[in-house]
Amino acid sequence: FNVPIPVNEPILNYAPGSKERSLLKEALAEARSEKQDIPMYIGGTAVHTEKKGKVTPPHDHQHILAQFSIGEKAHITQAIDAALAAKQDWENLAWEHRAAIFLKAADLIAGKYRYKLNAATMLGQSKNAYQAEIDAACELIDFLRFNVSYMADIYKQQPPVSPRGSWNRVEQRPLEGFVFALTPFNFTAIAANLPASAAMMGNVVVWKPADTQVYAANLLMEIFIEAGLPAGVINLVYADGPETGDVIFNHPDFAGIHFTGSTKVFQEIWRTIGTNIHKYKSYPRIVGETGGKDFILVHPSAQTDIASTAIVRGAFEYQGQKCSAASRVYIAESLWPEIKKQMLRDLASFKMGGTEDFSNFINAVIDERSFDKLAKYIDQAKKDKGVEIIAGGNYDKSKGYFIEPTVLVVDDPKYTTMCEELFGPVLTVYVYADKDFDQILEVIDTTSPYALTGAFIAQDRYAIEKASHALRNAAGNFYINDKCTGAVVGQQPFGGARGSGTNDKAGSMINLLRWVSPRTIKEVF
Ligand code: NAD
Ligand code: ALA
Repeated sequence: FNVPIPVNEPILNYAPGSKERSLLKEALAEARSEKQDIPMYIGGTAVHTEKKGKVTPPHDHQHILAQFSIGEKAHITQAIDAALAAKQDWENLAWEHRAAIFLKAADLIAGKYRYKLNAATMLGQSKNAYQAEIDAACELIDFLRFNVSYMADIYKQQPPVSPRGSWNRVEQRPLEGFVFALTPFNFTAIAANLPASAAMMGNVVVWKPADTQVYAANLLMEIFIEAGLPAGVINLVYADGPETGDVIFNHPDFAGIHFTGSTKVFQEIWRTIGTNIHKYKSYPRIVGETGGKDFILVHPSAQTDIASTAIVRGAFEYQGQKCSAASRVYIAESLWPEIKKQMLRDLASFKMGGTEDFSNFINAVIDERSFDKLAKYIDQAKKDKGVEIIAGGNYDKSKGYFIEPTVLVVDDPKYTTMCEELFGPVLTVYVYADKDFDQILEVIDTTSPYALTGAFIAQDRYAIEKASHALRNAAGNFYINDKCTGAVVGQQPFGGARGSGTNDKAGSMINLLRWVSPRTIKEVF
C-alpha cells in the first residue's frame, strides 16, 4: 500500500471580518461557558477521581474553565496494566490500520475540531489565534501525516542482500513493554506527537501532560478515540510528576520514554533510569527534547530589516515560551543604532492582553511560578551595573500573568541572562565591535550548555560559511537570514544536542526509528 503523499497543512487567516475569525470566536465563547469535568482515560474508560485540579486561562486566572481529576500511584499502575493488556492486539494490527487511525485524527483536527482545539490552546495555554493555528492545527496535523509517511517508508524499507540459498530480512518490532510520554505545556502539537509517534509504531503508551496543558490534552484524547484508537493503546493520566515517575521507572516493562520539557527534569529522569537499569527487561529508549538558550548573531553585512524582524519575532512570539525562542542576541556595533530603532518601533506597536481580543500580540506567561521567576530576573537586571533596560521591564499578575516584552542590553556577554534559560519575553542583547566577529563566534559556542536553535543574519557569503562551521555544534537547527523559531514538519526536522536533548529530530524518520527494535532473520533454503 502507498500512504497519501503529505503536504503541509495551510495556515488559516483569522483576519477581521473573516468566516474563520467568527468560527473561532464562537468556539472560544462556547469553551468559556461550559465548565468541563475532565477525566483521565485508562483502558478506554473515563476515570474520575475525588482529587481535582483547576484549569484557568493564564491571562485571566480567576476564571475557572474546567476541573480535572488527579490520579494517584494506583492509577498509574492501572494505566500501565491497561497498556500491557492492549499490547498484543495493537502490535499485531497491520501497520496500515494503525496509520489509518492517525490519518483520520489529522483529518478530524483539520476539519471538525480545528476551531475547538485552537480555542482550547488559546484559553489553556494563552496563545493568540495565529500561534494556536500554527501549533494546534498545522504543526500537529503535519506531525501526524508526515509521520505516517515515514512509518510507511520504514515498513517498506529495502530488505538486506540475500545470497542464493538464503533469505535475509529485518522485522521492525515495537519495543517490548510500554512507552511513557511526558509532555510540556507549550505546544499542543508536541502533546499529540509524543504519544502518537510511539503508538504508530505499534507501542502502547502511558501519557502524562503538564498540568497547564490538560485542557487541550483532554480534547486530543477524545479526538484519538473518535478516530478509532483502541482502548488501552494510549492511556492519559494527570498526576504529580515525581509520583508518576516513581511508578513508571520502577516497572520491569518500562521500555522507553518520549520526553519534551526542561533539561533539569530530563536529567533527573535519566539518573533514575540509570539507577534502576537492572530492573528492566530491556535497555529503555531515552528520547528527550529539552531546554534552549537560542541565539541570533547579526553580522556587519546583515540587512537591518531582516535582523530586526527575526529578533523581535524570534524572541517575543508566544511570549518567548518556545524552546526555540531567541533569548540572546549578538549585534554588530555598526548596525545597532538602526536595528534598535526598528526593534523599538515594532515593540511599541505590540498590544498586550487576553487571547480573546485578537488585536493582542502578547498574551500572558503560563503560570505564577514562571511569572515570579521572570520578574526576579527583571528586578535583578534593574539593580545590576552594566545592564540597560531599553524596552519593557514592567509586569502585573493581578488579572493574568503579564510581563511586558523586555529588552536588556548588557556589557558582559556572559551576564546571567545570556547564559540561563528564562523561558519568557525577556531578551538580552550584546553589542560587539565589528572587528571582534571571530571572538564572538567563540563566545556563542561556549556561553551556554544548550544547543537547540540559532540564527545568523548576514549577506557576506564568506561570513556565512565561517559561522555555519564555527557554530555547527551550537545548534541542532541553524537558520540563515531567518528567525530561529518556526520549524515546519517535513521541511526542518527539529531538535538539539548538548543540554538541549538527544536530537532525535521530532517529525522525522530518525525519531520513529527510536520506537522500534529491529529483528534480523536469516533463513536458509
Ligand atoms: P517541565 O520539565 O517542567 O515539565 C515537562 C513534563 O515533565 C510535565 O509533564 C511535568 O509534569 C513532568 N515532570 C516535572 N517534573 C517531573 C519529575 N520529577 N518526574 C517526572 N515528571 C516530571 O517542562 P515545561 O515547563 O512544561 O516545559 C518547558 C520546557 O520544555 C522548557 O525548558 C523548554 O525549553 C522545553 N521544551 C523543549 C522543546 C524541544 O523540542 N527541545 C520543545 C518544547 C519545550
Ligand atoms: N517547532 C517549534 C519551533 O521551531 C518548536 O519553533
